[in-house]
Amino acid sequence: MKKNINFLDLGLQPLANNYINKKDLKKKEKKYRLKVGIDLKTKLVSINKPISSKIMFNNKYPYRSSMSKTMIKSFLDLSKIINKKFNPNKILEIGSNDGSFIKNFSKKKVIGIEPCSNVEKITKKMGFNTYPDYWDLKTARKIFKKNGNVDLIYSANTISHIQNLDEVFKSINIVLNDKGILIIEDPSLLECLKKNTYDQFYNEHIYVFSLIGIESILKKHNLEVFHVQNLQIHGGSNRYFIKKIDNKRKIKSSVKFTRDNEIKYGLDKISTYRQFAKRVRSSKKILKDIFDKINSKNKKIIGYGVTAKSTTILNYCKISKKLIEYFVDTTKDKQNKYTPGTKIPIYKYKGFIEKNVEFVFLGAWNFKEEIFKKEKKFIKRGGKFIIHTPTPKII
Ligand code: SAH
Ligand code: TYD
Repeated sequence: MKKNINFLDLGLQPLANNYINKKDLKKKEKKYRLKVGIDLKTKLVSINKPISSKIMFNNKYPYRSSMSKTMIKSFLDLSKIINKKFNPNKILEIGSNDGSFIKNFSKKKVIGIEPCSNVEKITKKMGFNTYPDYWDLKTARKIFKKNGNVDLIYSANTISHIQNLDEVFKSINIVLNDKGILIIEDPSLLECLKKNTYDQFYNEHIYVFSLIGIESILKKHNLEVFHVQNLQIHGGSNRYFIKKIDNKRKIKSSVKFTRDNEIKYGLDKISTYRQFAKRVRSSKKILKDIFDKINSKNKKIIGYGVTAKSTTILNYCKISKKLIEYFVDTTKDKQNKYTPGTKIPIYKYKGFIEKNVEFVFLGAWNFKEEIFKKEKKFIKRGGKFIIHTPTPKII
């Protein structure tokens, strides 16, 4: 039985990606108490009361991987590594979204699993073999029956969204051949704690993984990590390369290196998490002060990049449309809607930041470099960004 010790309370939170239509602004929004805890036995850090996948991932899902050049490049680079190192004939992606990863391979080679039918339609239209299903035992059996075994399974920013990890890995074992490789990529718990990015916790992110947490669950399923890549993506992610234990592939030093770093930081101790929670509470105060100060001088603040992460920040810190006039975002399905909980209008990004804007809150802080490159003009004219990590500040 899973026994979580809660260490962080992020208050009442709406569904992180549930952007509101104008006509629904007056309707009462459902909110959920978001607490985060650790199971000291498995070292898995998770939110306390996960919401059903069907409520979060349905035919109205707004997230598109292709909205960031950083992601597109990362998937392209990985596809080259995969071809060079593993040369797989059949690849399966779990959480294929709008096809940003599978696009890099021939249509005959790849299978995609994407439960949000509005998003899955995009890849189906392009001629890819994708299924509008949740990854579970039923789907795995169906895939195996139709396509046989696969040589490689990739899943980025998705396994952390699925509550039943035992079922995830059991299902993987049905489809992955004995010499097969599993690659999982998700935000790193160590980086989250180091950078105080508590906004990695929201209702879709049921888990924020560490290597030690992943290892404890893999062991039960005859799987093990043989290489870890520490990535900059999404503010610090880990890419775990996994094999079946019976497969004699060599275990690289990156595994011990990452594990040692996690233990050295204290990811196996509750006191580390309690200290993190303290820093989060202080971060809230500092951020709120920054907003209030700018607001008292009647200066305009807008938001840039509406993220699931920013839903956590805005609702936890109680930053509403009094403090942020509007957000801009490149995602069509978020535009002309309102942010969950805080109801700040979201507009289409016009290709530049309006002249009368002096301060921009960076919701998509994880794409800071990409955005700063794009917004050289704003920076040159003295425009400032507000960012909450590692400690809230104006830059
Ligand atoms: N892999 C992409 C998308 C990540 S967003 C990327 O890294 O950018 C998370 C994706 O996981 C969404 O597209 C969501 O629909 C999908 N997802 C959520 N639950 C899932 C499940 N149970 N099985 C498969 N995919 C799931
Ligand atoms: P992301 O950080 O991937 O989201 P989440 O926290 O939901 O997982 O989302 C980035 C958002 O920022 C996405 O809605 C697209 C938007 N965006 C811009 O508007 N402009 C940009 O230049 C970039 C890089 C992202």
